[in-house]
Amino acid sequence: MTIERTVSSVVEPTPTSDGAGVRLRRSIATRQLDYLDPFLLFDHFGSDDPRAYMAGFPLHPHRGIETVTYMLDGSVAHRDSIGNEGVIGAGDVQWMTAGSGILHEEMPKAGPRRLDGFQIWVNLPRKLKMARPRYQDVAAARIPEHVRPDGVVVRVVAGAVDGVQGAVKEIYAEPEYLDVSMPPRRVFEQPVPRGHTALAYVFQGEVGLGEGPAVEATRLAILGDGDVVRARTGDRPGRFLLLSGKPLGEPIARWGPFVMNTPEEIEETLRELRDGTFASR
Ligand code: CO
Repeated sequence: MTIERTVSSVVEPTPTSDGAGVRLRRSIATRQLDYLDPFLLFDHFGSDDPRAYMAGFPLHPHRGIETVTYMLDGSVAHRDSIGNEGVIGAGDVQWMTAGSGILHEEMPKAGPRRLDGFQIWVNLPRKLKMARPRYQDVAAARIPEHVRPDGVVVRVVAGAVDGVQGAVKEIYAEPEYLDVSMPPRRVFEQPVPRGHTALAYVFQGEVGLGEGPAVEATRLAILGDGDVVRARTGDRPGRFLLLSGKPLGEPIARWGPFVMNTPEEIEETLRELRDGTFASR
């Protein structure tokens, strides 16, 4: 029997700031919601005011996780310790597997455009936490934009919709990352494997999920277990990110940009930072 996923809770993002003072709305990695296995963090940065973002994220380390940046508007210049350098702009995705360690900076560029986008952190399992750092930079043009006959448009960052495969592949958590734009009075159904964590972040208009009341922008809806997500719009259009991934079910030890399994592994990481041996391999 097919079970439709329903909304188990709705999270109101917490206004916060990070990096050198970038204002953002955080839905995961807050006092209210620390971890939604395998998702460690969910940030929505978006502002018309350059003072809210220009300070950026100067050089900082990561270990044991993947960071995924999806830009809606504006552009961010990045550099890292494994030799990557570039600019990601509207519609682009950067999927970075920090693994054993990376140092990088992410600096918004001044310009006529506003800044808008998302960064999520996906946990890595114990066996991959010290894997070689890896990096997939995907330009907007390489992200499939699937237009359904009813006008629903899905940008397939990772996963698959109607057989259209996403641009980012070979990620341990088997994540699905979809950007779904719905005109008024439409229904969009998407299978999600049972047991996978699933969430929907509504960032334009409002979207009904399952039988409950519509979820208004900008809010994160956590979905209960089941086989399929059913989204619907009423008189207004709606746009949301649909994310899912396989939970790891492992203990976590978390210290800022490092997420390991044990406190000892965090201590070792901090020791390497002090010694200057972090990310030197
Ligand atoms: Co970072």
